[in-house]
Formats: sequence, structure tokens, C-alpha cells
Amino acid sequence: MSSDDLKKRAAEAALEYVEDNMIVGVGTGSTVNHFIDALARIKHRIDGAVSSSEASTQRLKAHHIPVLDLNAAGPLPLYVDGADESNHSLQLIKGGGAALTREKIVAAASEQFVCIADQSKLVDVLGTFPLPVEVIPMARSHVARELLKRGGQPVLREHCVTDNGNLILDVYNLRILEPARLEAELNNIPGVVTVGLFALRPADLLLLGTPTGVRTLRP
Ligand code: 5RP
Repeated sequence: MSSDDLKKRAAEAALEYVEDNMIVGVGTGSTVNHFIDALARIKHRIDGAVSSSEASTQRLKAHHIPVLDLNAAGPLPLYVDGADESNHSLQLIKGGGAALTREKIVAAASEQFVCIADQSKLVDVLGTFPLPVEVIPMARSHVARELLKRGGQPVLREHCVTDNGNLILDVYNLRILEPARLEAELNNIPGVVTVGLFALRPADLLLLGTPTGVRTLRP
């Protein structure tokens, strides 16, 4: 089975958490694309979606799923999103698709965060996947120096401007043993918009696609 088949398997399993008349928070990425396609089959049962990126908004609209503004929708009961890595506490690295800022906002505004991924995303220690950090353009070099001081190797993501008009530094060489502490520390560097660590608000549930079915993990 390909990793895309495993992503689809996890995405389909997330439909079980969608209840009638919900407004569903929707993440970004190839796994979430499968979720959006699955959501289209039950779109008559939901009130709409709040999207975390322009890419997901386009896909939702192509399926004629109403896309609502988060300010109008208020707190959401459910957020479904993928991840680049998850540890066993369901603390995540996200931002491979450069949508980390809006993803973190929608996750924070949601009661339940269901993470969907193929089995390769589960790791013992976060950091093999380079940590994405969204920065204000004028702060790029300053933030890069601060990341170097902390042992990371920041690399500017080429040809990438986020939906918010910012840049992404991908930080290599991190072995993240205290994700919540590192998230708080990096959040405090002036010029950092969002750190792609989702540890202070981890996922509540991880649905992992495996060749034998979907594994459900809780922290
Ligand atoms: C986008 C993300 C994605 O959730 C993450 O990159 C996983 O993507 P995929 O589902 O394509 O493997 O954080 O910013």
C-alpha cells in the first residue's frame, strides 16, 4: 500500500468525528485533501468549514462546501489536520505545507483536534523533520542567528511566501526533547510569527493509517 493510500485511510476514518450541523475546522496538506474529498460526501449534514489555507479553501469551494470566516463561526467543535511528525504525546511538527500559522489559530479555537496521518509520521523524538518557523521578512536574518545560537541549522525555504505574506525558515539538526519548552522559547524571538511545534496545544487524537487498518492513539 502506498503512503497516499494510508493517508486516505486515516482521512476517511476522521469522518466518524463529524456530527450533524457542525462547522468543521479543516487543515492543509495531502492527507487533509483526502479528508475534504470525503467530507464532500456528507456536506449536506454539516453547516460548513473554517479553512486554514487558501489551498484548502479552494478545494472546499470546488466541492461546494461553504467556507466560513473564523470570526463569524466562533469556537469550533472539531479540527481535522495532518502533521509532519507526531510523538507519542501527540505533540506535532507541522508546517511542511507552510500553513502553520492559520493551522495553529484554528486548532487553538477548536475543542477537539483530530490529527490524521500515515504511520510514517509517528516518531519517538521530534526533529528529524526540519522544524518550520514562519518569520516576518525583515526579521529573517535576526531570527536565523537566534536559531543558530540554539543549535539549529535554519534554511530559508525557497520560492515560498506564506498566505500571510511571510517567509519560512526550516530548522534542521534539532532533537526536540522538550517540545512545549522549545515552542514557548522560540515564540518569544521577535520576528517569529509562528513556530511549527504544536506542543502547548497538542492533538487530542491521532488516527494513523497502517496497512492493517487505522490505529487510534491518545496522549
Ligand atoms: C501543512 C501541514 C501538513 O499538515 C503537513 O505538512 C502534512 O502534510 P501531508 O498531509 O501532505 O503529509 O502542516 O502546513
